[in-house]
Amino acid sequence: MGDQSGTVRVIAIDGPGGSGKSTVAKLVAQKTGLPYLDTGAMYRAVTFGVLQRGVDPTDWSVIDEILPQIDLDLSATTVMVDGADATEAIRGNEVTAHVSEVSANPTVRHAMVELQREWIRKSAGGVLEGRDIGTVVVPNAALKVYLTASGRERARRRALEAGLDIEEVEADLARRDKADSERSESPLRPAEDAVIVDTTGYEITQVVDRIVALAHERGLL
Ligand code: DC
Repeated sequence: MGDQSGTVRVIAIDGPGGSGKSTVAKLVAQKTGLPYLDTGAMYRAVTFGVLQRGVDPTDWSVIDEILPQIDLDLSATTVMVDGADATEAIRGNEVTAHVSEVSANPTVRHAMVELQREWIRKSAGGVLEGRDIGTVVVPNAALKVYLTASGRERARRRALEAGLDIEEVEADLARRDKADSERSESPLRPAEDAVIVDTTGYEITQVVDRIVALAHERGLL
């Protein structure tokens, strides 16, 4: 999977919620022909499994015990949890409200990172989006991008997508950013060698084209 430069054929796309990561990462995957993995969906799926079992999302010791029982199956379009289709439920309010708590759990993180590395080995690279792809999951990714946008802009995009109130979304994003950046286990931050792309005021296609151009420059394509 590595090449002579010691890098892995991975485009790591990290950043906070509402930065445009998902849309951008999917389009970059489409344009490059590389397979795509949404790691946020994995943390959401575990959170769904935890809530389904009636377990307190902040109770790490119980979660550590039940984690091996939660059966995850992610394809390009669907997320199955314990054999049931949870594709829509993992985007719902209930999961969104608790996913930061569950994803702060070190046992959960280690298990997800292992699954992500296994996915990279099997697919011989890909486009991965998340919070810690460039810092923890694939430190030797050939290209690391950290997407940002102003808090207002991120809230505006999310609110538009979900038909919600901007003020409420902005407050919720700020709460999750804070939790994700301040957790002790792999906090959200750009890798030292990440290209920081501020998407405020840019069209999605401009951002995608810039990343694809960088991938060419790095010899990824
Ligand atoms: O990108 P998203 O909103 O679907 O991510 C959901 C949550 O999962 C987010 O609050 C942070 C967490 N997450 C993480 O800790 N590490 C990742 N690689 C991806 C997501």
